[in-house]
Amino acid sequence: MGLFIDSSQPKEIQELFSWGVLSGVTTNPLIIAREAPDADLGERIREIVAVSAGDVSVELTTETEREMIEESLQYHAWEPSRITIKVPFSEIGLKVLHQLVKRGIKTNVTCLMAMNQAYLAALAGATYVSIFSGRVRDMGYDVRPVIASTREILEREDLESKIIVGSMRHLMDVNEALEAGAHIPTVTPPILRKMVWNPRTIETISEFNSAWRNRSIAK
Ligand code: E4P
Repeated sequence: MGLFIDSSQPKEIQELFSWGVLSGVTTNPLIIAREAPDADLGERIREIVAVSAGDVSVELTTETEREMIEESLQYHAWEPSRITIKVPFSEIGLKVLHQLVKRGIKTNVTCLMAMNQAYLAALAGATYVSIFSGRVRDMGYDVRPVIASTREILEREDLESKIIVGSMRHLMDVNEALEAGAHIPTVTPPILRKMVWNPRTIETISEFNSAWRNRSIAK
């Protein structure tokens, strides 16, 4: 299904999309508050949409059903074919999700720590269900069975939601999420760069190039 970038920095996003490996963007209020506290949210998201491709998740920050629907419609209008409304999971979140699904708006149900939560979000028609690897592990639990059992239930029940795994702290979290059945890991720029780096690769390329430069040419 692909790999998403978990960032709100347009320049960085543009550079990393040029690698040809990314197919979407995820943001959340914490990422934007850290990276661009003074930015106008609408302008920032439009910039991200302009330099990327695929779905761009924007998370709701209000807490009542009415406010969340209004906020969703405002975000959706910025780029209806690509903005994906990130709905925090809760009883109200499910009601909001249900309304958005009925209107044909793409959704990403977020802050999921357990298979049963992901299952409910998928039953309600979420486009994506986001499982938080690092935060599950912060509580002392193994996230791999959560991802694997979610994938199994989605397949068995023929549910269409795709599993995003976010909250990645280490490169190994990405590998383990993929092995456990994630459709889409979403990774920070530093983790994406770590996926490229390997000392033996660098050494091998250097050995080849140096052999070529220093070859002895027959006179
Ligand atoms: C992505 O969709 C999540 O919002 C993000 O990866 C959460 O990461 P954190 O647990 O580091 O805040």
